[in-house]
Parts: sequence; C-alpha cells; structure tokens
Amino acid sequence: LSTKPHIVITGASGFIGKALVDYFHSLDFSVHALCRKIPKDTVVGVTYFEYDLEKAVDPAILPQQSIIIHCAYSQNQRIDDINEKGARQLLSAASQADVTKIIFFSSLSAQSDSGSYYATQKQKLELLFTAPHVVLRPGLVIGKEGLFAKTLQFIHRFHLLPIVGQGDQAIYFIGINDLLKISHALLDPKFSGVFYALHPNALSYREFYTRVAKLLQKKIMVIKVPSWLIRTLIPFYNLIVKQKITHDSLKGLQHVPQPEAKILAQSHFGFPLQSLEDNLTQIKW
Ligand SMILES: NC(=O)c1ccc[n+]([C@@H]2O[C@H](COP(=O)([O-])OP(=O)(O)OC[C@H]3O[C@@H](n4cnc5c(N)ncnc54)[C@H](OP(=O)(O)O)[C@@H]3O)[C@@H](O)[C@H]2O)c1
Repeated sequence: LSTKPHIVITGASGFIGKALVDYFHSLDFSVHALCRKIPKDTVVGVTYFEYDLEKAVDPAILPQQSIIIHCAYSQNQRIDDINEKGARQLLSAASQADVTKIIFFSSLSAQSDSGSYYATQKQKLELLFTAPHVVLRPGLVIGKEGLFAKTLQFIHRFHLLPIVGQGDQAIYFIGINDLLKISHALLDPKFSGVFYALHPNALSYREFYTRVAKLLQKKIMVIKVPSWLIRTLIPFYNLIVKQKITHDSLKGLQHVPQPEAKILAQSHFGFPLQSLEDNLTQIKW
C-alpha cells in the first residue's frame, strides 16, 4: 500500500482485537481502538473510543478512507440479535464516513451445518459484508487467550483430555501471528470477498491436543466421555476455566466443516503459515 490507511478495530479489548491493536500500532499505523469499556492498560499512541454493538456508531470516530476490522462479538443469544444490529449500525456509519472497507471476523464454523446459533448467526452476518468488504473465516486461533488457551488451561490443571467418540473431529487452526499477518495482507484493495485464515492440514481433536501436550511437556490421559455426560459437565468446566462453553459450542465442535477448495485456493497471502510446532514454540507460555 502506498499510504497507510487508518485502522479501526472493534472488540479491541478481546483476544484478537487486542493483538491487532498492538500489531498495527507497532507498524506505525494510526489505530482507533473501539471497546465497550476503555481498558486501564491502553497502548500509548492508540486512540480509544467507547463502542457498543447495541448503540449507533458516531461516523466522526471513523477517519475517512479508514479500514475497520470488526472483531466485536457478543455471545449473548437474544431474539433481537445484538451482533446483527451492531453489524448494520457499523455498515451504516462506515458508508457515511467513507470507510474503504470492513474486514469482518467470521469463523470457519459459518459454513457448518451444525445448526448451532453461532454458525447460523455468522452465516447471516457474512451476507451483510459484501464487496468491497472482506469476510475472514479463521480456524481455531492458537494464542495465549481464547478457546484454545482455555482448553490448554484445563489440560494443564487436570492432565486430562476428554474426547467424544474417538476424538476424530477435525481441528483447523491458525497461529495468532499468522492471523495478524493475514489481516494486514487483506488491507490491500485487491482483496474483497470470503477468505480463510487456517492451516489447510487439519488434525483430529485427539491428535491436536496430544501433540500440544507433548510439545509443552505436559502428561495427559485421554478419556472417552459420552456426549450426554460432557453436556452435564459443561457448567463445572465453565466454572473451572472461566469460559462460556455452551451446548451450542459443543454442537459446533462436533460438526467442523471441511473448507471449500475454491476459497482455500484464494486464501494465500504470500507467506507460509506456521506449523503447530512453530506456533507453540513462538508463544511465551
Ligand atoms: N478465538 C478464536 O479461536 C476464533 C476463531 C474463529 C473466529 N473467531 C472470531 O473472532 C472474533 C474475535 O474473537 P476473540 O477470540 O477475540 O473473542 P473475545 O476475546 O471474546 O473478544 C470479543 C470482543 O467483543 C467485545 N464485545 C462483546 N460484546 C460486545 C458488545 N455488546 N458491544 C461491543 N463489544 C462487545 C468484547 O468486549 P468486552 O471485553 O467488553 O467483553 C471483546 O472485546 C469473534 O467474532 C470470533 O467469533 C475467533
């Protein structure tokens, strides 16, 4: 890019949003961080604004020709869909402010037939972000926060890996550093449409976490648990790892879709994606 666009990041207090703020700021982009609540540990040089998916967006906080990376996502399942309301309000403010494009953080799950609320909602949201916008579908993000880190926290504490069936559900993953680089590449005006951010070689759930445990030198025991028992144990699991795993997310985990060849083919950004091993050795645990 000849001149650097302003970057506006929603959900800037979240796992991915925070990492994007640090990443673009470190590359000397001008960054606006939009958060529900301005954090105490703000990044010097980044401008913070209050932002709520439920409230209208003031176009004045969106610099002209900026690019928005939309990471805010509410896990609140409500009839008056907060995420859809938020997306429509953001799109409306973006068109008034002459924003170049929005990169919407969707998920590989958006193409799942699990019938989960998450998948259905992401499918619906994706339809709103048509060209020139970008829909980015990451796999499971490997980093120090998010679902991956929470699962690891559980394994670390109990040395147990509960699996359903043979644990052969597919896991498509992406390292947080590669995800940041992909987001950067997608600023290029030539990109619009749907893209993946995932390593194309999936591992089974069992293989993935067994390898993770081995690489991090943690001894684990794999235990087969019937899905009805997992459902019963969810509230205890959530208490232990302070996570909102729901029956809905369990449905999603059991129906991981196969990436579409056409979208995979266009999801190359000029650098190789890191292996699971490389990702784990890069992160300081
Ligand atoms: N992590 C992964 O493995 C993964 C994989 C695929 C796709 N994704 C997608 O990537 C996006 C970001 O994920 P993440 O892991 O960074 O999630 P996260 O850590 O849960 O962050 C979500 C962000 O959304 C904000 N938010 C929630 N409700 C809001 C509301 N009503 N108004 C404004 N902001 C609100 C949160 O703010 P508060 O801090 O105030 O709650 C937080 O900043 C999500 O759309 C997710 O579906 C993530």
